[in-house]
Amino acid sequence: MGFVRWICTVIIFHFFAATPISSDPSFSSNELSSLPTKFLNFAKKPEVFDWMVAIRRKIHENPELGYEEFQTSELIRAELDKLDISYKYPVAVTGVIGYIGTGRPPFVALRADMDALAMQEMVEWEHKSKVPGKMHACGHDAHVSMLLGAAKILKEHEKEIQGTVVLVFQPAEEGGGGAKKILASKALENVSAIFGLHGGTNIPIGEVASRSGPILAGSGFFEAVISGKGGHAAIPQHSIDPILAASNVIVSLQHLVSREADPLDSQVITGQAAVQRCNATVNFFDDEKPFFPVTINNANLHEHFQRVAGDMLGIKKVKEMQPLMGAEDFSFYQEVLPGYFFFVGMKNDSLERVEPSHSPYFKVNEDVLPYGAALHASLATSYLLKIQQDVEVVEGKYHDEL
Ligand SMILES: *[C@@H]1O[C@H](CO)[C@@H](O)[C@H](O)[C@H]1NC(C)=O
Ligand SMILES: *[C@@H]1O[C@H](CO)[C@@H](O)[C@H](O)[C@H]1NC(C)=O
Ligand SMILES: *[C@@H]1O[C@H](CO)[C@@H](O)[C@H](O)[C@H]1NC(C)=O
Repeated sequence: MGFVRWICTVIIFHFFAATPISSDPSFSSNELSSLPTKFLNFAKKPEVFDWMVAIRRKIHENPELGYEEFQTSELIRAELDKLDISYKYPVAVTGVIGYIGTGRPPFVALRADMDALAMQEMVEWEHKSKVPGKMHACGHDAHVSMLLGAAKILKEHEKEIQGTVVLVFQPAEEGGGGAKKILASKALENVSAIFGLHGGTNIPIGEVASRSGPILAGSGFFEAVISGKGGHAAIPQHSIDPILAASNVIVSLQHLVSREADPLDSQVITGQAAVQRCNATVNFFDDEKPFFPVTINNANLHEHFQRVAGDMLGIKKVKEMQPLMGAEDFSFYQEVLPGYFFFVGMKNDSLERVEPSHSPYFKVNEDVLPYGAALHASLATSYLLKIQQDVEVVEGKYHDEL
């Protein structure tokens, strides 16, 4: 998740399409509501917890930037092999797509991002980044570890999966738009819904937070080149001063954001340059750094999340949050299928304060790992069961009418 530059107000409408299938979901609602606690207890078992911690630390020591996550990807595949989980590779350069369950529809996807940031870790600890200038300062190391944790839980309970869980290990979330490339690969073609999570540094451990509708901002990068003509300071009328134009642009941009006008309107920027008799070109880097849409959570999935997280943590620990001005490329998935993004708490007041993500002092509270893993696994498993039950209800109704 990166800092926001620009806000946009794209509204996306989702259509919720359940794929009908035939099988025998013989789950009682009691069993369904006890599933999340069962999964959390499993994830908290010392051998599972320690295994997740070890994976996270290994990835933390060897951070790789977007589309360069070759060793991270290799580590993921090695763990999937050990768990006897089949996968597709490579998808979107370094991405890995795993499959657990019947191998048949319905499909539900869980996503983790794998890339690190180009910054120097300032935390002195045993598992500090071994690569100068690169660091997992956004917790993607923990995200990968939690999704592998979910994979372990799901594999252990594979008989209970009424469909297929698709594990998406995605490259290049930090500005590279890896999600867009995963979608282009068509690997998620028949997926009915997708879930993604992020560690929350100011949410207490054992709590989660999210909301229905817009939750994170859109974001984009551009480079503006303003050119002028040099001259003597004493004869300003014969020079064209690009510094004055650039200063004006900088001040004007602040006004733009504060007034919430469309900051992508390059006319405003070139217009400012023209007033100062300069020329300007603007490059939006569409290929290298695609514009991230707003992250908009599906309303039906919000209900699903509240139920599942409530069953696991108690409904008081499931918080509604205000939208944040960070951005996430998870939004690309939500443009084409119902998607849901949420935050898992990491703050523990008995431990030292966690610095916000993208800080060189950022530290993951590893106690979060079982929560993330169990939430992933529970959201997917109960989503598939729910789809089955909805289909049964619909089919039952048809029978009545016939
Ligand atoms: C999606 O479903 C269609 C029709 O059943 C099938 O041809 C296609 O291979 C599926 N795609 C994936 C990625 O599973
Ligand atoms: C602006 O562009 C025009 C047309 O290309 C050119 O004639 C002019 O010299 C440029 N002015 C500056 C200040 O670069
Ligand atoms: C918070 O940290 C303390 C000290 O390490 C620990 O005993 C406690 O279990 C932690 N709380 C949670 C909810 O993990």
